[in-house]
Amino acid sequence: PVPADAALRGHVITFRGNPFLMPSDAALVDEPDGLVIVQAGRITHVGPYGQTVAHLPPGLGVTDYRGCLISAGFVDTHVHYPQLPMIAAYGEQLLEWLERYTFPTERRFADAAYATAIARQFLSELLRGGTTTAAVYCTVHPQSVDAFFAESTRLGTRMVAGKVLMDRNAPDYLRDTAQQGHDESLALIERWHGKNRQHYAVTPRFAPTSTPAQLEAAGSLLARDDTLFMQTHLAENRAEVDWVAELFPESRSYLDVYDRAGLVRPRSVMGHAIHIDEHDMQRCHATGCALAHCPTSNLFLGSGTFRLFDALSPTRLVRTGLGTDVGAGTSLSHLQSMNEAYKIAQTAGHTLHPVQAFWLATAGGAQALHLDDVIGTVAPGMDADLCILDPKATPLQALRVQMCDSTADLMFTLMMLGDDRSIRATYVAGRLLHDRDMETGL
Ligand code: GUN
Ligand code: ZN
Repeated sequence: PVPADAALRGHVITFRGNPFLMPSDAALVDEPDGLVIVQAGRITHVGPYGQTVAHLPPGLGVTDYRGCLISAGFVDTHVHYPQLPMIAAYGEQLLEWLERYTFPTERRFADAAYATAIARQFLSELLRGGTTTAAVYCTVHPQSVDAFFAESTRLGTRMVAGKVLMDRNAPDYLRDTAQQGHDESLALIERWHGKNRQHYAVTPRFAPTSTPAQLEAAGSLLARDDTLFMQTHLAENRAEVDWVAELFPESRSYLDVYDRAGLVRPRSVMGHAIHIDEHDMQRCHATGCALAHCPTSNLFLGSGTFRLFDALSPTRLVRTGLGTDVGAGTSLSHLQSMNEAYKIAQTAGHTLHPVQAFWLATAGGAQALHLDDVIGTVAPGMDADLCILDPKATPLQALRVQMCDSTADLMFTLMMLGDDRSIRATYVAGRLLHDRDMETGL
């Protein structure tokens, strides 16, 4: 796709700092009548309309989004595209849910045509929700990865993804071997990593489905290249944690299983991390590995409640983003992730400020993925991956907005009441790829 030029007028919100480390009004850039100018897919100017309009290139029309917020596109730090068709599967917790629903669904991705169809629908749904970058699990089948990256390349989205590695404790039809998983991953890395905004993540599913030999092989892939990502699941569910302790008796903790294999490092993203201790938090802080907080999933599967304010403690900050974790998560909309994150924080006696929530969904997610030099904020030099949020998407929201006396309260109504209907439009590298009120036909 050709990176585009664009000029968007509206209420710009973005970040100049981390609101877990400073007051929210110091962290937030709030430009009620702003203009964002994009040239060749990158943001060149952002500022008050009156002062910025002088920089408008001749012939470039301004799209008027007054009444809407202009934000960086959302960053989903943990999601499974093959699980889209099985979202909202009834009745089980993690380990039974995997056996009963997940594995049979993932089996279908041996079929490349099916994988392409679901990848296409998944990316379209992400954009409908305002998400422009995600860290995505494919399945054990290499063709599921080719299908995903091919679709992402077609759209020009910046995506992180990889082939799931699992060589034990899974059905025959979903198992690889340590050697096969290594070789297939290496071929995919060579085909996709660093090309056309695509990034490869070495993806051992979780410790129970990989032998120590497979975890070692994953570590040896990562050791070749600092720019590779790693993603896995960590300490999501009590029964899972107990199982890992039995399978790896020599390890101090679940995180330590990954650490011994060389998987705990910058650009590693651990999904969930609910049942971890202070020692593990310190280790994440020291290594630059990131945690993905997946609120809708954790509530849906009854997994437990992530200690968000502990992870983001200023004394030893751990890089943290938000993940939808669909299909265990119940929505691809990060507005819904923020909604449930607020409620989980409430149960621990913390108040998640809307500026903190939006930071997690954008700049914080970009920092978790070490991609904050290109995405996550609205600023000159950044990729023009943007979402346009309509605070009055429904009659009820229009009523509630009449009570708003601050930008923060407007953001709060969006995160508590909003969903894909709130996304007026989504831009990827300056191109309009989703328009709520128009069929763009990807
Ligand atoms: N742990 C191992 N695999 C999965 C998965 O697919 N989803 C979730 N939520 N947890 C997992
Ligand atoms: Zn997951």
